[in-house]
Amino acid sequence: MKFSYKETTKTFEEFNQDINSLSVAELKKKYLSKKGNLKDLLKKIGKQKNEEKAQFGKEVNILKNFIQEKINILNSGLNTKFSTNQIDVTAPFEKNTPEDDKPRLLNNLGSTHPLTQELENILKIFQKMGFEIEESRQIDDDYNMFQSLNFPIGHPARDNWDTFWTKEKFVLPAHTSTMQNRILKKYEIPIRVVIPGRCFRNEATDASHEHTFYQIEGVYVDKDISMSHMFATIKAYLEAFFETKLDIKIQPSYFPFTEPDAEFVISCPFCEKKGCSICKYTGWIEIMGCGMIHPHVLKEGGIDPKKYSGFAWGFGLDRLVMIKNGIDDIRKLHSGELEFLDQF
Ligand code: PHE
Repeated sequence: MKFSYKETTKTFEEFNQDINSLSVAELKKKYLSKKGNLKDLLKKIGKQKNEEKAQFGKEVNILKNFIQEKINILNSGLNTKFSTNQIDVTAPFEKNTPEDDKPRLLNNLGSTHPLTQELENILKIFQKMGFEIEESRQIDDDYNMFQSLNFPIGHPARDNWDTFWTKEKFVLPAHTSTMQNRILKKYEIPIRVVIPGRCFRNEATDASHEHTFYQIEGVYVDKDISMSHMFATIKAYLEAFFETKLDIKIQPSYFPFTEPDAEFVISCPFCEKKGCSICKYTGWIEIMGCGMIHPHVLKEGGIDPKKYSGFAWGFGLDRLVMIKNGIDDIRKLHSGELEFLDQF
């Protein structure tokens, strides 16, 4: 900001520098006292040419508020520099501990977790594509986890999503599809929503399986929506995420809540199908389950499947972050290991 006083050649930055170097008493004397600079400037407002009065007054006012705020901050003590004589009784080291021996996180501020970084990046991509965002829940019920998704009680496919149950018969969601029914009921058509959420599965952990992980679900419903819309939408997103053009393949799959169902497969973004360690030397990577939302699921969500159609997908955030960054063990993402996290 440039301070355009006629009477002074000072810019706002110069005022700022001056103000920052002064104590409360000095500030009051130099700017707010009877003979202070500010009083002088306030008097001069009236002497400005008519067309310049308003602008001049506005700028003097900004300066006045700025000085008052600075005084408030100084008075509240927020601005006091940490003097070496002060003792921080909460610090887990003594005053004379050499810099190198102090706990590391006190020396550097750290960074956001790679999962958080990529989640923000992914949601931005979907927002640009016109999607809304809704977070899933970390505890749910049988209706949202199974019944509303076309798994009636006793359906054998329930076993594929074996998860944790509480004594009260609540369930820790094994996928973000638990939100589909709520989304169908809540949003007006056309529906375009992505749902990030934490998921849990009752499984033994290894380099590619964790009991806790994140998924991002997509739900899209409108008139005349076909599988080609689904392929194009998912491909556009993945190309933005990997920042490269991709070839795609579709493999058959099975989910009770979609029909037809598919496994979405992309050409390896790193080796152009030549084969590398990330794609396990196949040139292709299976990236997510998807399909056209089953008519029973649409109906249960209050949408007439004769009038409307739509698609859904669900992919693992952890897995995408692993592929993009060449991380070989999913457990590192939840380990809190500083050597690992420092790389991001
Ligand atoms: N929920 C499925 C899973 O966890 C993925 C999926 C979502 C498939 C939506 C189809 C439609 O494997």
